[in-house]
This record gives sequence, structure tokens and C-alpha cells, in this order.
Amino acid sequence: MDILILGGGAREHALAWAIRQNPKCDRLLVAPGNAGIAEVADCVTLDIVDGAAVVALARREAVDLVIIGPEAPLAAGVSDRLRDAGIAVFGPSQAAAQLESSKYFTKAICDAVGAPTARWERFTDSAAARAHVAATGLPLVIKADGLAAGKGVVIPATMDEALATVARMLDAEGAEIIIEAFMEGEEASLFVLCDGTNALPVGSAQDHKRAFDGDLGPNTGGMGAFSPAPVLTPAIEAQVMVQIIRPTLEEMARRGTPYQGVLYAGLMIHEGRAKLVEYNARFGDPEAQVLMLRLGAQVLDLIEATVAGRLAGMQVNWAGDHALCVVMATRGYPGAHENGSEIKGLDVIPEDSTQVVFHAATRRDGDRITAQGGRVLSLCARAATLHAAHDRAYALVDRIDWPEGFCRRDIGWRALG
Ligand code: GLY
Repeated sequence: MDILILGGGAREHALAWAIRQNPKCDRLLVAPGNAGIAEVADCVTLDIVDGAAVVALARREAVDLVIIGPEAPLAAGVSDRLRDAGIAVFGPSQAAAQLESSKYFTKAICDAVGAPTARWERFTDSAAARAHVAATGLPLVIKADGLAAGKGVVIPATMDEALATVARMLDAEGAEIIIEAFMEGEEASLFVLCDGTNALPVGSAQDHKRAFDGDLGPNTGGMGAFSPAPVLTPAIEAQVMVQIIRPTLEEMARRGTPYQGVLYAGLMIHEGRAKLVEYNARFGDPEAQVLMLRLGAQVLDLIEATVAGRLAGMQVNWAGDHALCVVMATRGYPGAHENGSEIKGLDVIPEDSTQVVFHAATRRDGDRITAQGGRVLSLCARAATLHAAHDRAYALVDRIDWPEGFCRRDIGWRALG
């Protein structure tokens, strides 16, 4: 198979790394890719939210399968353009990707199928929303409808912050927000492949959204992850499949917009039960890094079965291992930060199927690798225990010579105790 992956982050590096190991993969293209991806695939320049441009590249390169990594091309309908052109694609249609691109859409689906989630109200009018906030009181959760690159969810600490957030989010013409009841518990994610009809769980993970140790500091795209998430027990996973995932997929099919791709269920777990926090229509980042490390080459077989509607006969072969990922970011992230600093030490890290450094915002300038964004590297390891995976991942971190970078030192703390 000749395969094209869309995206250029550590998630796409992890996908490329796993897929490249499968002997079915003849040629691997990644658009736009990055300096790390360039070591396992051919990187190509492409506007990945331009469906016509993606179709043209896929035709020109006789690509057999396109795998869409990030949410923006999904929300832009790139998978629809590819399907219309008869090109196999892994990733939901624009209509089905509303499970990520519209908070309101997902809440309405949950209500339609009785899936457990926080109580919610939708607002377009700022005065009505502020009156609701004042009447309800804290704690509550305010979510902007639409994609917001991780910045669309606020849990205000004070009533002033709540009122200001509502006013800010509803400032733009046509804006909508959801105001939800706050849910107690521990967050974890379940990743499920869906072929429109059948669903196959492919692993759980826990992310670390805050920038600094102790879950302090601003929200980020994710500073580290581990898989599996022990809090998501087999019993809770079964509850999620029965009460949340399968009813959602049946409702999507009933509406004529079947879901095909990976469904990322963000869950809140409390007293042995899970409620849905949100759906995403893609693999998480950094969750994909730990999932790909554990799944390895079989992920291509699973993706192929998803695209072909053959998931019913598939199973995941687990090694019974644990994986952990530490993200290194440029100092200042998620706020203002300088690009261009040199990262040393990467060339002396031995990589194998149990430890690997996935690149996000990196560029090769001759012999130098430089940082070109916020989240830059994902240092990942797997081992028989989470403790061992943790120690191995941090041993990789300690070999990186990058004074302008930082990471959290406590990834995995919830599960490690
Ligand atoms: N790590 C969170 C996300 O991918 O949305």
C-alpha cells in the first residue's frame, strides 16, 4: 500500500512510525511532516485543509489510503472530498466529525440516546447566559461551540471570571456556548475504532493538560500521557461501550451520517461510573504516542479494516504492557515563546520498539535540529510496568540537551501513586 498521512505533529510521527513497521506499507508520505517524520517517511508540502489539493496529491502519487491525523481537515470535509473521488480514507465525514467540531451536536446526541453526561444549557445571548451563570453559581464549565484548539473550555474560579468568559465567548457574531454542570472525578480517555457499524476499543489513556507539575499552570494541548489508564477498568469500559459509544454510533448511522474513523471519548470517572465529557474525531496528542507504541505495526491492519467496514472480525493483540510519554515544550508555552533554539542529544538516543522520540514542531537545518513551536518532542517508552515505562521515558528526557525546553517531571502521578 502507498499511504498518505495528513498532519505534522508527534501524533502523526507516532502513526507513521507504527505504520512503517507493517510490511503492507510500501511507501509512506506525510504532509507536511516534520524533521522526525522525515526519517521514516517522505514529507510533502500541502495545504491539508484544502480537499481539492489533497485529492490531487493522492491521485498524482497513486495513494491507496489517506489517514487524517488532526481535526481541522476533518471539520473542513477533506474526507468527504477523498471519498467522492473514490480514494480510501481513514477519518469521519464532515457531518460525523461534528462530534468534535460542535459541543452542542454531541450534547444533543447524548440526550437523544440517553448517554450519561453533565447537565447542560446552550446560549447565544450573552445577557441570558450571564443570568444563568449568576443563578446557577459555581462550579460550572463553559464551553465555546466549535473547534478552539484546546482553548474553548473554561472552568472559572470566580464569578467575575465566569461572567467575563461568557461575555468574551459570545462576543463574536453567531457564537454559541454550552454551560455545563461541573463533574467530580478523574478524567481518562477511551479510543475506539468505528467502521460505521462496528466498534473496537484500541486502548485507554490519561493526559496531563496543565503545563506544570502538580497539575498547576495554564491548560495546554497535553504535556504527557500514559496507557492504559488503570482508572478505566474493564467494567467501566464495558459501561462506556454499552451506554455511550454504541448508542452514539447507532444514532449517527440512523441519521444517515455513520461514523468511520477513531472516536476519542473523553470521560469523567466517579464512583465506578463514567460520564462523557467530550468526543474528539481523531487520536489524541499525546495519547496517540502511547497508543501507537503499544499497538505497533498492527495499527495499519486495524485502520485498513476500519476503512473497509471489516472491524467485526478484528481484535487487538495486546502485549500486556504500559507506555508513558513525556512532552518537551519550548519555555513559555502555551504562551509566547521563541522558535529556533537548537536541540542536542537526539542523535545519541538509541531507539527501538520500546523507546522512541516522536517529533512535533522540529526542523532540520543541516546537522542541527531546531524547535519551531510550542510542543516539540514526545519522549516515549513502554515496559512491563508503568513504573518501568516512566523511568525509561525520563531517562530519555535526561539525555536531551535543550536549555530552552521544559517538561513536567510528574507524568503518570495519578496511576503511580
Ligand atoms: N490531548 C488532548 C487532545 O488531543 O485533544
